[in-house]
Amino acid sequence: PILTVLLCAAAYFMGSILFALPVSRLWRLPDPRAQGSGNPGATNVYRIGGWLPAAVTLALDAAKGWLPVWLAHAGGLSVIGQAMVALCAVTGHMIPVFYRFKGGKGVATALGAGLALAPATTLVMMAIWVLAMWRWRISALASLIAVISGPVISAIIEPDTLPLFGLLALLIVVRHRNNLIRLAQNRESGF
Ligand code: G3P
Repeated sequence: PILTVLLCAAAYFMGSILFALPVSRLWRLPDPRAQGSGNPGATNVYRIGGWLPAAVTLALDAAKGWLPVWLAHAGGLSVIGQAMVALCAVTGHMIPVFYRFKGGKGVATALGAGLALAPATTLVMMAIWVLAMWRWRISALASLIAVISGPVISAIIEPDTLPLFGLLALLIVVRHRNNLIRLAQNRESGF
């Protein structure tokens, strides 16, 4: 239990580092919180600065989800314990202690955590994201379709991780409420 608490805390603090911000500074781009969608995530860094800083943001935000879950796995935590660590990392990204609790939408961090805990489910979700992105060219829509598919896919191929994917879907859909409103009004900006 003490290891679970420590790793949850570490995951929350790691999750609280919004890599879109240092990466944007490194590329001398404007603050993504003040441009485009205003979201500090890879998609918005792509809008502002193109694919390279976006890919770096995606990789680092995913790594901060992957690493604590990998440590939890290596430390012998149960699947439930690992899922709790995953949720702490994603929560850190969404309500970060370092940025007045104003964070991002959690897709990249959930991707990294998912790869560490349930790689098969996560790879299928990534394939769904790519297909949806190819079809509609709207990142938020592709992410929503992928995260809503998560519980269904995990129930079939990695059922012990279903609670994690259920909670991730819930959190991530709620964080996309403005995207959902724009999608309903046909105003969501594409890629
Ligand atoms: O899921 C992708 C999401 O982060 C969309 O970001 O910037 O289009 O709101 P944005």
